[in-house]
Amino acid sequence: MNDAENTPTSVSQPLDERVNNRSQRPSSAAFKAFMASNWAPSGQHLPALDAVANYAAARRKAISEKFKGERLVIPAGPLKVRSNDCDYRFRPHSGFAHLTGLGLDHEPDAVLILEPAGEGKGDGGSHHRATLYFRPLVGRDTEQFYADSRSGEFWIGARPTLAEFEARLGLATVHIDGLESAITKNVGAPEIGGISIRLVRKVDENIDALVDTARYNTAKDPDNLDLAVLDALDEKLSEALSELRLLKDEWEIEQMMTAVAATVEGFVEVVKALPRALTHARGERVVEGAFFARAREVGNELGYDTIAAAGNNATVLHWTRNTGRINAGELLLLDAGVEADSLYTADVTRTLPVNGTFTAVQRKVYEAVLDAADAGFAAAQPGAKFRDIHTAATTVLAERLAEWGLLPVSVEEAVSQEGQQHRRWMPHGTSHHLGLDVHDCAQAKRELYLDGILTAGMVFTIEPGLYFKNEDLAIPAEYRGIGVRIEDDILMTADGPVNLSAALPRKADDIQSWMAGIYQELDGGLPSGANR
Ligand code: GLY
Ligand code: MN
Ligand code: MN
Repeated sequence: MNDAENTPTSVSQPLDERVNNRSQRPSSAAFKAFMASNWAPSGQHLPALDAVANYAAARRKAISEKFKGERLVIPAGPLKVRSNDCDYRFRPHSGFAHLTGLGLDHEPDAVLILEPAGEGKGDGGSHHRATLYFRPLVGRDTEQFYADSRSGEFWIGARPTLAEFEARLGLATVHIDGLESAITKNVGAPEIGGISIRLVRKVDENIDALVDTARYNTAKDPDNLDLAVLDALDEKLSEALSELRLLKDEWEIEQMMTAVAATVEGFVEVVKALPRALTHARGERVVEGAFFARAREVGNELGYDTIAAAGNNATVLHWTRNTGRINAGELLLLDAGVEADSLYTADVTRTLPVNGTFTAVQRKVYEAVLDAADAGFAAAQPGAKFRDIHTAATTVLAERLAEWGLLPVSVEEAVSQEGQQHRRWMPHGTSHHLGLDVHDCAQAKRELYLDGILTAGMVFTIEPGLYFKNEDLAIPAEYRGIGVRIEDDILMTADGPVNLSAALPRKADDIQSWMAGIYQELDGGLPSGANR
């Protein structure tokens, strides 16, 4: 204990107030009046949302249809502390973003409530009225303006007013102060005139607590509340929100194309950065940084942490440490996606020969994975099952592994449900839905996901790989330390699959000439591969 802690003041001061101990801000009326005076309007430029407003309204209507007569509570989620008083960049819950159309920066602590309005008497003929509760911009005559580092305009910039959001979203807006009563009023059993709530749980623990308390206080027999039944009610809402995203609307498809185009630009930046990466002790970080710079320049963020994996690191499926060297002659597996300002993300992988040319064995493995991807692509037809893509791709991989003498059983046995020996070298699924989340629609029922029918409007990945670890004694040495994945983003249409990421070359020769073309433009020639 030091002297300061022995003083009466520091002993009695609560810890959560001590964050202000470094503040020297005066609190006199004269100071407050001066800070509040003489400001012109901010002239803030909020991104246009008119384009998404109608789509978001249609999504709310679809959800309204499933939960007539019930209050639906969909939180954006709070800011999350990264360290002490520094937060992570805010990103709303994807279900909230989907139903409001809000992306980029909007709106910590906000909650969307769909209030039952009677059959067909809600917004646009739906059965609910939607209201967004959020913390609007406060006046410059408040202390919050210059003193609140989490929401004050002086600290984080201007935020929307209630009226601005109402006009831009086509959605009623109310100050967040009204939230508690909006969630808790009239809660109770429908048979006694009460309203039952469904909540997207585990997004904002304050809202979870509010709903739990309201349910407890209004239950007929509070001491015997069946929490499992209530959880199941809530889970049905999360499930419905997830399933609603299985089919993308036109606006979402545009956003996916934007995200993929930005991702393609990021891959070009990585190729440009490779010569420097090859000379750097943490070359993988050079690659990660090059992609991230482009993601921030043209999009909101990364959709997920970049996997920049050279050599044996490429055999670690989610290698995001990215601390490795990139050695001459190795393959670089780059799995990266830009998240657009709308929060839709791409998810693309290319495996590049860092010197610009595949060795014979690298090419052999690469082409097997490419053939598997092409088989997956051929299986991805409207009317087929989602799971057919994986079956088609992994059958090709099993065949190649058998040809190379690596599979300890026949191809038939390997592809059987109990066999699956090829999984030693390809242990992940071939496809997942893609959208606001990189692994989108994750709460959808299995019969609509893995056993679902491929339908126009779905967006998903095809991403087979082969991963031969350095320490794998079941394979000849020549394969060890080679990891290959090829991942494309696919839009299903009535005419078949469209590869949204086709602007990035996939064939081995095309990759080589694409890389050579980039270096020619840079006028620097192919990277030499010299390591420091
Ligand atoms: N980037 C993660 C995945 O491909 O699923
Ligand atoms: Mn993926
Ligand atoms: Mn990926």
